[in-house]
Amino acid sequence: MTETFLNLKDILSRSKQALADFMQMLEPVIENAKDEHERLYFHHIYEEEEHRSDRLQDLFPKIDALIENPAVQNTRNPEFIHVLQDLSLEKFGLHNFLEHLDLALYQFKDTEHAHRLQEMREMTFEDYQETKKLMQVLNEQFDGAASKGGSVPMDDKEDVREELKIDMYTDGADDRVATETQSLIKKKSLTVGSLKNLRR
Ligand SMILES: [Fe+2]
Repeated sequence: MTETFLNLKDILSRSKQALADFMQMLEPVIENAKDEHERLYFHHIYEEEEHRSDRLQDLFPKIDALIENPAVQNTRNPEFIHVLQDLSLEKFGLHNFLEHLDLALYQFKDTEHAHRLQEMREMTFEDYQETKKLMQVLNEQFDGAASKGGSVPMDDKEDVREELKIDMYTDGADDRVATETQSLIKKKSLTVGSLKNLRR
């Protein structure tokens, strides 16, 4: 199971780096917003990601502790159960980040940030899919303890009306999204030259 925790730590670490880049992009938009609606919109996204950053900061040493000492990985240990539940909520955090990135792609579509955002979007999509699998492994191993209420995004719930879901975030979206991402890049008509300038 230690391997599973290492994988989750990797995913959450790179997501934390990505969210820091993302917040940096948002700062000038909030500061120079054209009206209060725009300001609140991006402030809301920024605040949620800032909150996620704090949560991850808090969670990393706890993951490290159970990687270093696998003996604590048992369901009789309440601390361990808490970590499993926190991890399950961070699965939702990745889903939420994905939607924030998609919202930002509208705002930044013709700017220098479009390419980096697209990269983060693809990474986050893959990482979210992988996290779902890893959490399922943990859940099976530890008697369902790795699934806290609030950890399943609406788009992945069975009892939510289909009309309220967005296809590209639902289970099994893998194939479709690859195509959608391609067409999104084409729509942005990023030329080879502009991509070179944008790449960091
Ligand atoms: Fe939000």
